[in-house]
Amino acid sequence: MARITVFGAGYVGLVTAACLAELGNEVAVRDVVPAKIERLRGGEVPIFEPGLEELLAKNRERLTFTLDAAEAVEGTEFIFVCVDTPPLYSGDADLSRVWTVVDELPRVNGNPILILKSTVPVGTGEKVRAVLDQRGLTHVGYASNPEFTAEGRAVQDFLHPDRVVIGAFDPTDAERVAELYANVDGPVVQMDVPSAEMVKLASNAFLMTRISFINEIANVCEATGADVVRVAEGVGLDHRLGPHFLRAGVGWGGSCFPKDSLALKQLAANSGYHFQLLNAVIEVNELQKRRVIGKLQRHLGRLRDKEIALLGLAFKAGTDDTREAPSLVLASRLMAEGANLRVWDPIVDGEQLLPQATKCATVQEAVRGADAAVIVTEWRELRDLARPEIRELMARPLIIDGRNLLDPNETRSAGFAYEGMGRPVSLMDVLPETAEREPELEA
Ligand code: UGA
Repeated sequence: MARITVFGAGYVGLVTAACLAELGNEVAVRDVVPAKIERLRGGEVPIFEPGLEELLAKNRERLTFTLDAAEAVEGTEFIFVCVDTPPLYSGDADLSRVWTVVDELPRVNGNPILILKSTVPVGTGEKVRAVLDQRGLTHVGYASNPEFTAEGRAVQDFLHPDRVVIGAFDPTDAERVAELYANVDGPVVQMDVPSAEMVKLASNAFLMTRISFINEIANVCEATGADVVRVAEGVGLDHRLGPHFLRAGVGWGGSCFPKDSLALKQLAANSGYHFQLLNAVIEVNELQKRRVIGKLQRHLGRLRDKEIALLGLAFKAGTDDTREAPSLVLASRLMAEGANLRVWDPIVDGEQLLPQATKCATVQEAVRGADAAVIVTEWRELRDLARPEIRELMARPLIIDGRNLLDPNETRSAGFAYEGMGRPVSLMDVLPETAEREPELEA
């Protein structure tokens, strides 16, 4: 069993630490935010990630939390770097936190390996290697070991990964890192450092491409009367294509896709290549987030003073993360149109996020008096939204389903006007009073 250090107590760092401890290792987690370390020491988990709290509690004896880098690396064999790499104004990844770890890495004995898990541009490993050498830390090995865990299922993804990718300059380092994953249920692939760095960026870009692709198909479905849910089902059965990441909706968000798409776009541009396809993938997503506005206008006319219930703020279900969430774009567009927002999310505290919106503790409260309810996050709690109680609470029984969570026929039979994303629109869905109430729309 190894002695491991993890720099960064965010989503990636805490999941990495908890899972490595679960595998029997001694793990020291270091972060620079005192409040975070304090809470972790007290057994509190500062983020919501299913299974994480239990895993940290179960392995408490093998985990320590500290603000002190020297203490964290004492006797260490592996140093995982799990700090965030947010986008700079230019779109490039901000590596300042990675450099802080590398530049301030205390003197260490033995032959520890620095393992970069954070998502970084291709070429970063070579630069880190050079800086370690300049600092006289030639005895410190280096490996790139990108993380592929998705929020909401990160623990499961870590312990049962599709693959573990390890890029190293020295095959011995690669072997030692591979040993750490010996009891993890998934294949380990070893390669050179730049390729490992690119696997991460390419995988995320491919997933985003699939989503933007199905969203464009959805938009064509809307124009032609096809149903994207059935289309995705039919397409996904081709084993060469597969069923994953073909859910049409309000577009992708989160802490990874938006920043990684920009980072790859800028990486290509900085190297003199115009990544045309990726640019289109990003643009399609920007437009997709706004499509709900057009749907609402079609039903309600002008949105000024309309009461709109936004159901779900997190960028996807199973997480409290709202970074680059489509809900935020939607909310600001709706407010710009003069609508009044009533927001509900089972985990996210909307108070600070959207100060101008009315925060609602329950779905019922959110839809009370609403002219429309918009499903923004595919929360389980919304699956039975189309029930009489909800219909009676609403001023107009209109559901815009940004995640295709509901069954259109059942929803219509329950007395709602319904519009999904890329699904046939029924003439019955246009609320009859809309045209009379908003004659200016015709002009
Ligand atoms: C993503 C990748 O799935 C992980 O493999 C990767 O490790 C991670 O980024 C990262 O780079 O750290 P994550 O951002 O947590 O994970 O979430 P996903 O489940 O991939 O969803 C991303 C976005 O795509 C969400 O907004 C989701 O709603 C949207 N999505 C996903 C769709 O709109 N349609 C789909 O079919 C699938």
